[in-house]
Amino acid sequence: MEDFQVKDKSLAVQGHLQIEWASKHMPVLNQIKNRFSQEKPFKGLTLAACLHVTKETAVLVDALMAGDATVALCGSNPLSTQDDVAAALAEKGAHVFAWRGQNTEDYYKCIDNVLDFKPNITLDDGADLVGTLHSKRQAEITNVKGGTEETTTGVIRLRAMEKDGSLKYPIVAVNDAYTKYLFDNRYGTGQSTIDGLLRATNTLLAGKTFVAGGYGWCSRGIAMRAQGLGANVIVTEVQPIRALEAVMNGLRVMPMEQAAPIGDIFITATGDISVIRKEHLEKMKDGAIIANSGHFNVEINIPDLESLSVSKRTMRPNLEEYTLKDGRRIYLLAEGRLVNLAAAEGHPSEVMDMSFANQALCSEFIATSERLEPKVYCVPKELDMKVAELKLKTMGVTIDELTEEQKKYLSTWEMGTT
Ligand code: ADE
Repeated sequence: MEDFQVKDKSLAVQGHLQIEWASKHMPVLNQIKNRFSQEKPFKGLTLAACLHVTKETAVLVDALMAGDATVALCGSNPLSTQDDVAAALAEKGAHVFAWRGQNTEDYYKCIDNVLDFKPNITLDDGADLVGTLHSKRQAEITNVKGGTEETTTGVIRLRAMEKDGSLKYPIVAVNDAYTKYLFDNRYGTGQSTIDGLLRATNTLLAGKTFVAGGYGWCSRGIAMRAQGLGANVIVTEVQPIRALEAVMNGLRVMPMEQAAPIGDIFITATGDISVIRKEHLEKMKDGAIIANSGHFNVEINIPDLESLSVSKRTMRPNLEEYTLKDGRRIYLLAEGRLVNLAAAEGHPSEVMDMSFANQALCSEFIATSERLEPKVYCVPKELDMKVAELKLKTMGVTIDELTEEQKKYLSTWEMGTT
């Protein structure tokens, strides 16, 4: 058996060009890669990654391999793999098991293929790799020193594992670094989600009523960009502080029940299940467009949509028309899977530069740490700050430094009103 499985090896030529293009826009990760190639922090270690197989992920894998890691990689979503990139990565020597359009069985088979490499470190996006290790392959956990988690949904799952005592090795929550979520979740998801919506539909946003499901860091990025393109944005939320922020940012806030009959475009990114369900679908206008940018395809209740429909046809790539019993048509993008990766290319390289710099540094942190408890760890503050510092430098931005007087002022309490 070959130690990789991709759709078409001959796509590698295009994949290498894509990776080169991404790499040009990932200067922080490249600096880390250069250091890794001197210091070899992963010598003798196998890293298993379950990440979206994109050109940006390829630049991360390159950096890890430069640090002497053996890397096994599978996709973290059945629709997000870029087949040309997967082929190029296999040619570079990564053990890639990923192709676009997998069914659920293939998806988990690829996770098993990657775990067969007996990893010492795991890199996860959504916690399916960690979940599989802890549920079906527990005996292999002893090989694992630690892992990282890329996304909000994964961190939520891992904290639940920590809470009920089932987490058996340490995980660093990369998602929770400032240099990750403030940029990747907000500007990355904001731009790439609109990108996916436009590639699938080429619809005009100006003047449309756009409903953002949720107002976490991802959905606020989506709402912000939709507003910037001239849409009238409505936010739905369950968390009062977030709802209040949305109100004070000038957005209308209401329950989905009320938004359903007035929205033209609905995009969810809440991390929760059935945010759009039967009672909402029943009220939507003819022609409503619905999509999801949250990690899992559960935010839109697709079985509800299927049960309300009499027929379905594919209008364009990633655009499915459902005709309901009363004749209304609802348009679902990318099967309800994350529209930014399934219908577009995911976040731009410039933001993934910071997210994956964190991944690289946290993997190194795990590789070089003596003993960590089986807990969910925050990204060490100095690593987070380092990523910001390097990013600013590569952008040609310089900032002030505290003077001695200012340092003293901040570290003492005596001086008050003057
Ligand atoms: N998640 C969101 N965008 C991504 C990208 N471009 N590469 C990998 N993971 C992502």
